[in-house]
Amino acid sequence: MLSVVPPSLTVRAPAKVNLHLGVGDVRPDGYHELQTVFQALSLHDEVTLSRSEELSLHVSGEGAQDVPTDPTNLAARAVVALAERYGLDPALRIAIAKGIPVAGGMAGGSADAAAALLGAATLWHLDLSRPELDEIAATLGSDVPFSLHGGTALGTGRGEQLIPALSRGEFHWTLALAREGLSTPAVYRELDRLREVGDPPRAGSPDDLLAAVASGDPNRLAPLLANDLQAAALSLQPGLRRTLRAGMEAGALAGIVSGSGPTCAFLCIDADSAVEVGSELAGAGVCRTVRVASGPVAGAEVLR
Ligand code: C5P
Repeated sequence: MLSVVPPSLTVRAPAKVNLHLGVGDVRPDGYHELQTVFQALSLHDEVTLSRSEELSLHVSGEGAQDVPTDPTNLAARAVVALAERYGLDPALRIAIAKGIPVAGGMAGGSADAAAALLGAATLWHLDLSRPELDEIAATLGSDVPFSLHGGTALGTGRGEQLIPALSRGEFHWTLALAREGLSTPAVYRELDRLREVGDPPRAGSPDDLLAAVASGDPNRLAPLLANDLQAAALSLQPGLRRTLRAGMEAGALAGIVSGSGPTCAFLCIDADSAVEVGSELAGAGVCRTVRVASGPVAGAEVLR
């Protein structure tokens, strides 16, 4: 028997930070081989899907003006991909409420794709297994499978092959959002260029970091945070050095560029310290705005 699904539903999906991002060689398909540890953070986008006459997209909230509302939008592509695969009409109204910074290195677009995929599958009564959803998610973007899953996970391949990782307790973060976004392909290209002319730092194995995450001790995790894309993001936005320095001076345990940036993520000892670091950063004028968040949190979920 079919469960009753309303004509409209809302799915929320989390932002991510890469605790470890080791970038390997460029593959023949143009992607880089990754070893990465993702953590989902309590900063969300909400995607509301309603049955409609035609496929349409509406975006509100943080940075909405910079999100495409044409068929290139990842949430629209998710709905179309699912409809094509199951021979359905993709006529849905997609309304995205942004809470995740746009072009910030926190998988905002991937969160929207994961939410739209799960939402459309639910609205259309497609009783898809996790592997089926994961397979479609991976065709949409490297981070989309993680946005579906959430928690903490080791990602390999181009980031889409996931193994859940043990994480104890809650980690507390302050996020410094930049004035200008960064394009992910441009950051990867810049890393390739830096590697041609020099020897930027490499993250190495994530094993020690995974043990630190499992211990739940932020003091143990802090010195192990590593991101191979950080040198490239700093090369494209040198002002981020000041932001990273200001976070450390404000009392963070560690600061790192999140994914391809330019958001800077600061690990803090507890929730109070995260608020304190946030207010110092806001006062220092080194970023557009700040957020506090904790992780790990769940992946995309239909709101009841
Ligand atoms: O998979 P996604 O569409 O999110 O990737 C965006 C871009 O980031 C890719 O087109 C590629 O330039 C770069 N990328 C990469 N290696 C990865 C993931 C992303 O080079 N593993």
